[in-house]
Amino acid sequence: MSANTIDINRQRHRFDGRESVWLFGYGSLIFKADFPYLERKPASIRNWERRFWQGSHDHRGTVEAPGRVVTLIENPGALCRGMGYLISPDVFDHLDIREKNGYLRFSTTLTFDDGDETEGLVYIATPENTAFLGPAHERDIALQIASATGPSGPNREYLVRLAESLRELSAVDVHIFDIERYLEEHATD
Ligand code: SIN
Repeated sequence: MSANTIDINRQRHRFDGRESVWLFGYGSLIFKADFPYLERKPASIRNWERRFWQGSHDHRGTVEAPGRVVTLIENPGALCRGMGYLISPDVFDHLDIREKNGYLRFSTTLTFDDGDETEGLVYIATPENTAFLGPAHERDIALQIASATGPSGPNREYLVRLAESLRELSAVDVHIFDIERYLEEHATD
């Protein structure tokens, strides 16, 4: 599958006159809300975990030197904490462009902190997309992040802002915090 998912996403969901849709964000969508929303509140989704396994050619790296950004990997029993946004369906015109480097929209169930559940959408970059990089040791991921930069800024900033946002959400994410620690150690080498 091509890494450019704009056209596929446009065909994927029919909003049929709906006024609003919940979107679950777990990466840059937590800390960079460059779109209008009606409501925003912390949420979690079950059976998925966050991993820095997606390559970024267009935001935090280049085709020659891709950065690494997060996607979700299926893992029964896992809980991924992030942010829920209630948005108007026309906001997907912007989001599909922003998330075009391999991310497809999927339906998911968001669970809010008060236990309420609702159906929504989430962008996931699956292993079939050509920008997918897959697993690597957290130390190696940190080294790649330390040297990558792209049109949206340094890859390091993406990691640091994500880790800060997760602490604000009281999320425990060992993978992310390990990469952050390796990145800090690398900076002081
Ligand atoms: C997300 O944040 O939900 C998707 C991945 C990203 O844009 O970083």
